[in-house]
Amino acid sequence: MKTIAVINGPNLNRLGAREPEVYGSETLKDLEDRLTAEASALGVSLRFHQSNHEGDLVDLFGKLADEGVTGVILNGAAYTHTSVALRDAISASGLRVVEVHISNIYSREDFRKHSYTAAVAVGVITGLGFDGYSYALSHLAAL
Ligand code: DQA
Repeated sequence: MKTIAVINGPNLNRLGAREPEVYGSETLKDLEDRLTAEASALGVSLRFHQSNHEGDLVDLFGKLADEGVTGVILNGAAYTHTSVALRDAISASGLRVVEVHISNIYSREDFRKHSYTAAVAVGVITGLGFDGYSYALSHLAAL
């Protein structure tokens, strides 16, 4: 069975409570429950990770590559805009990564308009809320 990792970066553990006008009122658990149901219908298995620490995310990419996961759905959150280390970890892992953002990063502050990780992802989905994760999941499950 294919295994797909879902990685959420800093502050996404606070979904539901954090700026609901931007990120909605659903929680990280709501997101994970929704994706679990979709993965089961698609016949793939999911692994969920969330961390507020850049180095943990870097380590995780190495680990997932060694374990041979099929692909990764990544919301790197603020590290998207700051982390060369995360970009290098993605690149070094050789993993197929779909970058997802709940909000539309291009309609917000200028500093969110640049992503260090987008160029090493196969694609980016931004602004479609939790649906973005579902579209990324169908893409990776269909490979
Ligand atoms: C985010 C957008 C980022 O700019 C922000 O730092 C986040 C969440 C999103 O999902 O819309 O934490 O990645």
